[in-house]
Amino acid sequence: MGHDLEKVLVTEEQINARLTEMAAEIDADYAGRELLLVGVLKGAVMVMADLSRRLHHDVEMDWMAVSSYGSGTKSSGVVRILKDLDCDVTGRDVLIVEDIVDTGLTLSWLIANLRSRGAHSVEVATMLRKPGEARVPVEVAYVGFDIPGEFVVGYGLDYNQRYRTLPFVGTLAPHVYA
Ligand code: IMP
Repeated sequence: MGHDLEKVLVTEEQINARLTEMAAEIDADYAGRELLLVGVLKGAVMVMADLSRRLHHDVEMDWMAVSSYGSGTKSSGVVRILKDLDCDVTGRDVLIVEDIVDTGLTLSWLIANLRSRGAHSVEVATMLRKPGEARVPVEVAYVGFDIPGEFVVGYGLDYNQRYRTLPFVGTLAPHVYA
């Protein structure tokens, strides 16, 4: 895959160090409370696995798959549930685990959806955020890295279902999109 990559934005070492810090923050914030981690498939698989294993909390894990209608690489905010949660979130402290917050449209829909089901609290942890691309304000409690508004792959993020397994985050060379 090396020749498809343009540059590395966040290294594996940076990701691992930041995950440890984020886990410590989450452990402290949720001390004495039960926590339900909700991962958004498929992109959040890596961050869910790595973040949850750093928590000293006994957490429950559940998954949702959503598709956001949009053109090309941009979402529209019109969201369809492809796979719903297995568990009931009523009264629970929910932490949504995301790969990336881009426009924020998918996430704001998801937060509203989980609140409407009666969750006690809904917070967000994301590995990446593109602050310059935000179209709706979304409060994100735990952010790994703020990055420029470029399309990135790796650490769970794909382009046409490829590059998810790269252990770092990077951009693709222009010939890949050609
Ligand atoms: P949003 O609704 O615009 O915030 O988009 C959220 C979803 O779009 C993420 O969960 C990703 O699946 C996808 N996405 C946004 N930016 C990127 C990117 O740079 N690379 C790969 N996927 C992305």
